[in-house]
Amino acid sequence: NAQYEHILTSRPAEGVALITLNRPKALNALSTPLFIELNDAVANFDHDDDVRALVLTGSERVFAAGADIKEMKDKRYSDVFKNKFLESWSLLTQIRKPIIAAVSGYALGGGCELAMMCDIILASPSAVFGQPEINIGVIPGGGGTQRLARAIGKSRTMELTLTGRNFTAAEAADWGLISRVSENVLEDAISVASTIASKGAIAVQAGKEAVNVAYETTLHEGLRYERRIFHGLFATNDQKEGMSAFAEKRKPTWTHS
Ligand code: CAA
Repeated sequence: NAQYEHILTSRPAEGVALITLNRPKALNALSTPLFIELNDAVANFDHDDDVRALVLTGSERVFAAGADIKEMKDKRYSDVFKNKFLESWSLLTQIRKPIIAAVSGYALGGGCELAMMCDIILASPSAVFGQPEINIGVIPGGGGTQRLARAIGKSRTMELTLTGRNFTAAEAADWGLISRVSENVLEDAISVASTIASKGAIAVQAGKEAVNVAYETTLHEGLRYERRIFHGLFATNDQKEGMSAFAEKRKPTWTHS
């Protein structure tokens, strides 16, 4: 933890890593230094064999209030273009292990986009989502227009993007943006992560990869891809163990190999 200034990391359960955004004074605004730390922590956990699922959270009050407006306000086109501003945010989507967002309070702009970059979103009843960038003269730049449109459809995404209005956890659940509303969102997210961590890690990572392909390709190609990955799992010890354990009416012991 000592190496990070804007985030906290911990191991709340067997196989589970927790990353907590921790810039309370700026409502967890996603500054460049914060994102460098976040990407570093995520990459380290992705490479750590003792971690099989991640949880990302903020505080009760705020998940993240967006990109850091104070950092952005004086930037010019030439700055953001040359420096590929926000491009490194998507590194988070390239990790193999599943990452669960536990959202309380504000998830606005880049905060909403960050939650959408995760694999599963759980939100407390207090969560407030939105893409308010239109109110500061821009549009979402961290995937908001694309990921929201895929998750909740064009009409809603247009309305939200062009009016900048916030939406509630209940709306997010109705629209299928999040898995569910949870009173104890962090505890619940850790419990989901724990369950995932109790499975064979290779199958979990294969499952994540296959589901994500559904967002990138045609149904025909996606089904082919899924079958290829499914076939590939027959080369793992965990497939032998899982199916033998079922036949022998015992619990499997995964070796993640
Ligand atoms: N960037 C930088 N600082 C921010 C911030 C942000 N996104 N959001 C809040 N802060 C800072 C405030 O400036 C304030 O700092 P000071 O104490 O130094 O003045 C501190 O956090 C507390 O904020 P407020 O006083 O505004 O708190 P509030 O409870 O009255 O309001 C809020 C909360 C509704 C979330 C409000 O802070 C707000 O509207 N924030 C901005 C939300 C936003 O527009 N997000 C989109 C950013 S653009 C983006 O994300 C682009 C993209 O697509 C990647």
